[in-house]
Amino acid sequence: MKDSILLRILRLARPYWPLLLGSVFFSFVASLFSGSIAWLVKPVLNNIFLEKNYHYLRLLPLAVIGIFFLRGVSAFLQSYLMRMAAIKLVNDLRYRLYQKILRLPLAEVRRETSGRLVSRVISDTTAIEPVLGDMFRTLMLEGLTVATLVGVALYRRWDLSLLALTVFPVVAVGSRKLGARARRMRHLAQQEIAALTHQLTESLAGLREIKVYLQESYLLRRFREKLTGYYRYILRVTKYREGSRLLVDLMTGVGGALIFTYGGHLVIKGAMTPGDFFSVLTAILMIFSPLRRLSRAYTGIYDAAAALERIEEVLRYPEETGGSLEAFPPRKAIKFEEVYFRYPYTQEYVLEDINLRIPAGKVVAILGPSGAGKSTLVSLIPRFYDPTRGRVTLDDIDLREFDLVSLRKLIGIVSQEIVLFNATVAENIAFGRPGATREEIIQAAKLAHAHEFIEKLPQGYDTILGHRGFNLSGGQRQRIAIARAILKNPPILILDEATSHLDSVSEKKVQEALERLMSGRTTIIIAHRLSTVTRADLLVVMDHGRIVAQGKHEELLKTCPLYRELYQTLGFEKRASA
Ligand SMILES: Nc1ncnc2c1ncn2[C@@H]1O[C@H](COP(=O)(O)OP(=O)(O)OP(=O)(O)O)[C@@H](O)[C@H]1O
Ligand SMILES: [Mg+2]
Repeated sequence: MKDSILLRILRLARPYWPLLLGSVFFSFVASLFSGSIAWLVKPVLNNIFLEKNYHYLRLLPLAVIGIFFLRGVSAFLQSYLMRMAAIKLVNDLRYRLYQKILRLPLAEVRRETSGRLVSRVISDTTAIEPVLGDMFRTLMLEGLTVATLVGVALYRRWDLSLLALTVFPVVAVGSRKLGARARRMRHLAQQEIAALTHQLTESLAGLREIKVYLQESYLLRRFREKLTGYYRYILRVTKYREGSRLLVDLMTGVGGALIFTYGGHLVIKGAMTPGDFFSVLTAILMIFSPLRRLSRAYTGIYDAAAALERIEEVLRYPEETGGSLEAFPPRKAIKFEEVYFRYPYTQEYVLEDINLRIPAGKVVAILGPSGAGKSTLVSLIPRFYDPTRGRVTLDDIDLREFDLVSLRKLIGIVSQEIVLFNATVAENIAFGRPGATREEIIQAAKLAHAHEFIEKLPQGYDTILGHRGFNLSGGQRQRIAIARAILKNPPILILDEATSHLDSVSEKKVQEALERLMSGRTTIIIAHRLSTVTRADLLVVMDHGRIVAQGKHEELLKTCPLYRELYQTLGFEKRASA
């Protein structure tokens, strides 16, 4: 796995091979200059200090300055180029991960907690960086040193050297085992960190709930538990790491004992000169320090390998797929045919035996108690999810046959939970149609009755909204979402309780805007308001995941007790808010 990870990382870094090559080149140049410093010692000593040659002394400062300067520049360039390649590679990975996240089916995003995905993009990619930055160079240079030293030792006295080298496999196997344990612990530690991140984001989002339900001490306790878990795992990582270092030290002792005993024997017997003995001894001892650096790089590479493994796992997730047909505005109808649906990784069906025809250009209102499956039903139209059984069709063609982008281009949604992005009001509205002009944006905002309040915001249409921006009220958010949908001007419109946050005056205005928006469009509206219900072309009553009745208002009043009940509640709400 170790070599394959290097290869894999090098493959990832392939686009940056000129940088890597340049870096390798300068690292050799730098070591050459290092060598030349040592080399210079002899002529300096002999010519200046012993022969007292002035000619040499005049040249010396220039040479010393020059060599140190060039060595410094080479080292700088080596490190700079390598870093460039490493960061570019890491950023590539981050970009690909983000792209992947955007293309994940919703089912997958729910499964992975967001904290874990975030740690893939940020921490795991960061763990890859040192492989190129340091380890790659360590492996190359130290590997070369070790090879040379082994060569020298074998050349001097092969049997003695082999005897001394027998300790190395023990070290290798031991370190490998300990390394595997360290990796497992490191993985667990990273999971704790991901959980911490998750709790942190969650707490910031839900600060009000936490305060009013006095959950501080409970949350602190859970946070502390995760911190303790992290502490334990990291301590174990350290234990295994230091353990492998300890093993190296022990084996150095054993190796030394072997060499001295057998070597001493050979020398006393006269089978070997003391010079050969010390040459072998020096070479073997000199191997240890680069070897230790190699093994450190090796563990680092394992860490990186584990991170890369996790990154590649995400990159392998299936993406949303669509067909090749170009979707078109409905001419006949959108139909649900024998649709059954359950959310991924759950057992219970949330939709059962759904047969529904949404005629082109008409308004279909869906009613039903909370949890009946209304939002789930409409989420099948943009293919946020696909039916577990049965199919949803557009003019009798299965939605899965359409190209996803072309399908979603047809659809506008004002959903139950409106998300505003960290961007200006204008940009948030233009989400509906990137590239819209300011006039078009203002026009859409006016139609959605949002223009008035937007103008009163601190920077008007340029006020930053969302996460770290200006906070809007629920009703204001809805009107932004409606403006988005108006601007997109889609042939299919999905409104999930679009007017639920508005006071009765605004509701009336928004209702007008929506009616204008709905006319001529195929509209599915999840209705919680009397006015929508009575004006819809078709009413669909849902309960426990099934359609219990559909028809016109008058029919349903007579035939469907649940509808009567719902209708009365709506009527009551209406009177109460008026
Ligand atoms: N992402 C999800 N994963 C698993 N189950 C879900 C998910 N979303 C909703 N459900 C379940 O599906 C059922 C139907 O939910 P849905 O949101 O469609 O109801 P609804 O009719 O829109 O209710 P409301 O009127 O309260 O918005 C509920 O039992 C809910 O628990
Ligand atoms: Mg809902």
